[in-house]
Amino acid sequence: MSSTAEELYRPGLEGIIAGETSVSTVEQDDLAYRGYTIEDLSKHASFEEVAYLLLYDDLPTQSQLDGFVAQINAHRELPGPVVDTLRAIPQNVNGMDMLRTAVSMLGHFDPIAGEGHDQDVERAIHVLAAVPTMIATRLRLGAGQDPVSPKPGLSHAGQFLYQAFGSEPTALHEKVLDLTLTLYAEHEYNASAFAARVCTSTLSDFYSAIVSGIGTLKGPLHGGANEAAMEMISRFGSGPEAEAWAHHAIANKEKIMGFGHRVYKNGDHRARILEPYTRQLGEAKGEQFRVDVYDAIKDTMWNEKKIYPNVDYPCGLAYFFMDLPIDVYTPLFVASRVTGWAAHIIEQRSNNRLIRPRSRYVGPAIRPYKPVSER
Ligand SMILES: CC(C)(COP(=O)(O)OP(=O)(O)OC[C@H]1O[C@@H](n2cnc3c(N)ncnc32)[C@H](O)[C@@H]1OP(=O)(O)O)[C@@H](O)C(=O)NCCC(=O)NCCS
Repeated sequence: MSSTAEELYRPGLEGIIAGETSVSTVEQDDLAYRGYTIEDLSKHASFEEVAYLLLYDDLPTQSQLDGFVAQINAHRELPGPVVDTLRAIPQNVNGMDMLRTAVSMLGHFDPIAGEGHDQDVERAIHVLAAVPTMIATRLRLGAGQDPVSPKPGLSHAGQFLYQAFGSEPTALHEKVLDLTLTLYAEHEYNASAFAARVCTSTLSDFYSAIVSGIGTLKGPLHGGANEAAMEMISRFGSGPEAEAWAHHAIANKEKIMGFGHRVYKNGDHRARILEPYTRQLGEAKGEQFRVDVYDAIKDTMWNEKKIYPNVDYPCGLAYFFMDLPIDVYTPLFVASRVTGWAAHIIEQRSNNRLIRPRSRYVGPAIRPYKPVSER
């Protein structure tokens, strides 16, 4: 190992530029997908427009958007063997493990022939359409109910909620899910996008790269934080109870899920955008005490550690207020992030170089082999 390589070593690759991308920029006070700020997109664009932007590099015209939506709708139904697989996976299996298997299974029935840029975009649309149906189907089966077929004319967010609950969502629920899908869609060289790019860089296939992303997103230091944060919030019945616990947890140097970020040290824009909607949902649900718990932990983290919440903190509670079971929160993150992963896979393929870094060896020095009888 050359000394130059050693000088570049940073645990966790913190601060290291590991590649170039035109998909998004994540800076301290800036997040933009292909040049459009997250503030603008979350205010004005639907998730479908955002997904198009990520897959096709620019926002769609009305006719491009109509064509894109029609294409997504054409891919919503799952192949029979994938539904059979969902039935076969035990109900106690974690939602992300279910999704990892289901997406892998989907790959065995790939309706898209051949390899290339256009085929990868089509595969991305196939997976984008299928994942919400997988999550909803699994929810229905778990509740002993039949899966609900997609209903024409609903938005992507509305469609998922319809397939999950069997009735059309309120305008607020549809809006909040659409917003969280937009906020979760893409985040530069995060761990799961990087995993998908590493997989792609070996010239592996599209589905393997998406499955690499799913496995990586599952962890509570990454996407799994929305579930962990909600499990924490749900343990408390009042603000003061949560505050007392938070003081204790911080004193014991416990990690509080849904707080902190590798890049954002001045706060996560996405959390700030989402939080007012989480409060609105709490009000609509008549469960102010949960918002008090949310605020108590947030304020204690700020007062004692000066650490801000990340997007997973308000998102977990928002989904909870929408009556979604905790087990689907990280799978819903996947439902959105497949767009970002796909954009990275396509970009990696367009200018590929095998991602293969070096390590610093810290093991024993070279030593002589000893036969078993002498050890
Ligand atoms: C996201 C995360 C992994 C980023 O970590 P990182 O860049 O490696 O930051 P570090 O773990 O080095 O944290 C720096 C300091 O802040 C503290 N810190 C960071 N996040 C914290 C959290 N969620 N709870 C308590 N303390 C935290 C660390 O303990 C450390 O304190 P110290 O200097 O006194 O030891 C980390 O903040 C975390 O584990 N958060 C919880 C999981 C989560 O919400 N993930 C979703 C991310 S979008």
